[in-house]
Amino acid sequence: MTQHLFQPIAVGPYTLTHRVAMAPLTRSRAGQPGDLPTALNAEYYRQRASAALIITEATQISRQGQGYAWTPGIYSDEQVQGWRQVSTQVHEAGGLIFMQLWHVGRVSHPSFQPDNALPVAPSALPVPGKTFIVDDDGNGVWGDVPVPRALETAEIVQIIEDYRRAARNALKAGMDGIEIHAGNGYLLDQFINSNSNQREDAYGGSVENRARLLLQVVEAVADEVGAERVGVRLTPMGRFMGMGDATPEATFGHIVSALNRWPLAYLHLVEPAVVGTVKDEHFDPRWDAIIGQLRTQWKGVLMVAGGYDPKTAEHALAANRADIIAFGRPFLANPDLPRRIREGLALNASDPSTFFGGDQRGYTDYPAHP
Ligand SMILES: Cc1cc2nc3c(=O)[nH]c(=O)nc-3n(C[C@H](O)[C@H](O)[C@H](O)COP(=O)(O)O)c2cc1C
Repeated sequence: MTQHLFQPIAVGPYTLTHRVAMAPLTRSRAGQPGDLPTALNAEYYRQRASAALIITEATQISRQGQGYAWTPGIYSDEQVQGWRQVSTQVHEAGGLIFMQLWHVGRVSHPSFQPDNALPVAPSALPVPGKTFIVDDDGNGVWGDVPVPRALETAEIVQIIEDYRRAARNALKAGMDGIEIHAGNGYLLDQFINSNSNQREDAYGGSVENRARLLLQVVEAVADEVGAERVGVRLTPMGRFMGMGDATPEATFGHIVSALNRWPLAYLHLVEPAVVGTVKDEHFDPRWDAIIGQLRTQWKGVLMVAGGYDPKTAEHALAANRADIIAFGRPFLANPDLPRRIREGLALNASDPSTFFGGDQRGYTDYPAHP
């Protein structure tokens, strides 16, 4: 029973042929030096071009925005060239691809920062999490992150310009659109959530102030590429990287109402059943109510992700919980996921030991169904 998943839908200027999207998945396999997409990365995305829409792995908008080893960027000309092979391959295979733009904020390490500086954040508050760094032998290891430095108000203007340049570069690289990553405890989410933002300027305190940076980024990116090519990803009530907000209904309600100002391609919400890459057994029970609230408030296309399987995805669409379902781990392990869902075929299981870093193993060698 997949009749809802296989209906077409308009997203911005595009018509998706069905509702099974590929969620953004960091794989830490960019070419070195320079954090550039390679032919192997292009092959990985080409294999998954039957997605209704591919959202790329999170891609840093600047060196300052990087927090994990071997993630790709979109701030240098070489990176634009690297991404061009990806978009070309996906388009030749009939797919559509949006690039997820990323600034990690405090979830970083001096080894990634210009001049080995401290990572930046709304406030100098520690992160209860780890990031993936390179050790002295060149291996990827999970390492602690230091307490970040609070951004000066004047520096925020530059970050907005970095998003603008990244969006421009993404289109130059042949991307069909942009997804702004405003979830999972990274920079924009750190500004949004009250427990990571203690600022006393125009970017902290009230809900309006905490939402300001996201809205200014949306404005700049929409101005650059057209609002109809821009999606926004949020994780209301997400707990990854220590996030928490005192009044999530008000905070995310305000954001979603404000986002209605633009004719955006879509809004993408991550369900809190998953924290980072693992199942959350203790998610906030208010989530169901909040997704209902945001579904009603949001005037455009709604995508959701987080723990879906073919059956629960079909039910979610049938119940009008959302319009599109994004699959993360199932797409990672099943390059031909839409066909498998449509035909009721068995799914390959994903192997967490090859999620981050490494070569083609656990990357381009998951088989399509015969
Ligand atoms: C290996 C891995 C990498 C991820 N990288 C990203 C990312 O770059 N950006 C993002 O917004 N979410 C990222 N996520 C979260 C997924 O997009 C998705 O929300 C999550 O896996 C839950 O969906 P699933 O149950 O279908 O896997 C990642 C998840 C996994 C497993």
